[in-house]
Amino acid sequence: MYDVYEIRKQFPMLDGNKKMQGKPLVFLDNASTTLKPQCVIDATNRYYAEMTANSHRGDYDLCYFMDVEVAKAREAIAKFVNSEVNEVVFTSGDTEALNLVAYGYALKYLKEGDGILISEAEHASNSLPWFRIAELTKCSIYFINTDGRITVGQVEKSLNKHPNIKLVSIAHVGNVLGYRVDVKAVAKLCHRHNALICIDGAQSVPHLKTDFKDLDIDFLTFSAHKMCGPTGIGALVAKEKLLNDMDPFITGGGMNVSFKNDGTYLLLEAPAKFEAGTLNLAGIMGFRAAVEFLSSIGMENIEEHEKELHAYLLDKMGNNEDVIIYNKDNDGSILTFNKKGVFAQDEATLLNSKGIAVRSGQHCAKMIDRLLGTPATVRMSTYLYTTKEEIDVFVENLLNGGDILDAYFND
Ligand code: ALA
Repeated sequence: MYDVYEIRKQFPMLDGNKKMQGKPLVFLDNASTTLKPQCVIDATNRYYAEMTANSHRGDYDLCYFMDVEVAKAREAIAKFVNSEVNEVVFTSGDTEALNLVAYGYALKYLKEGDGILISEAEHASNSLPWFRIAELTKCSIYFINTDGRITVGQVEKSLNKHPNIKLVSIAHVGNVLGYRVDVKAVAKLCHRHNALICIDGAQSVPHLKTDFKDLDIDFLTFSAHKMCGPTGIGALVAKEKLLNDMDPFITGGGMNVSFKNDGTYLLLEAPAKFEAGTLNLAGIMGFRAAVEFLSSIGMENIEEHEKELHAYLLDKMGNNEDVIIYNKDNDGSILTFNKKGVFAQDEATLLNSKGIAVRSGQHCAKMIDRLLGTPATVRMSTYLYTTKEEIDVFVENLLNGGDILDAYFND
């Protein structure tokens, strides 16, 4: 294990000076985005302060140095998820990576009569791209019959019922309930049914050791900003053969060999053919720093820390009758709840008045309300730097923090 108090010293936002509503910040919205350690901030700033130049476009030293930085970052990310280096495509984040699978693969290969399998627990980025592909290709969207925790058996039932399913796209860890899917078993099942599997790793890659090769999945998507990295950068990791077969969905400089005035063109090989335009170079340098930072702590240690916090949190909450918890039995960093008789956004506003950041509403997963039987919930989510003392502050204010009117009139 690691010393969480030592780790916190590396995060400027956690230096004790940061206040929200005049109270010390307790940041419990890590499923939405995460705080950045100094090494990530430094790596990102280094691009602007010391290394500004474009990559893959120049014959002077600074350009060459950027080429090297991009290659090193790609290597670091491949190592972090155990893929081949040329299986890593830089995208603007998880959303663009999922759209690249949708428009680069599904639009090309799926047709009327084919099916895509998702679940009602998916967030917008793993739902809407497939809805668009269904509109464009006339293929069908099917939903796994689940109460929110996706099991291998439920996926198998869907695949048996709809033998036309060609692609399954689900989150490894759900962003509302935090349930973890047995991805390795589901991948085996999908391949037995001749379907490809796309894993949305936005909520898993930052928290669990992810082994692309061992899971034997076809596509993996994630964002840097949910794993201590900068915003505006992320990755699609995909099997090399699939990348070779896919089309880019954006085109431009840096991804072509040549184009002529008769309209013909020749593209570079993957991953370059998917990376049109000037890359987010500062983001790429920060992304590398983030995965190296996480590796230095150890993903198993991070997972262990979050499990321990979750058990501590549940123990602290006890069996309080005023709080409905929707995912007591989840596997990690997310607790989703409502206070009886209190609208979720009012509870989040009250917690904000105490300096506590949580998310409320539908959390971008606008189909999950049917599974939960409520239109909105409050979600608190921890990360590697969360402490038991912060959990204490959260629980005390949730259980004894008064009501929403205090936030406006008494505090
Ligand atoms: N999908 C992100 C979340 O769950 C933004 O908050």
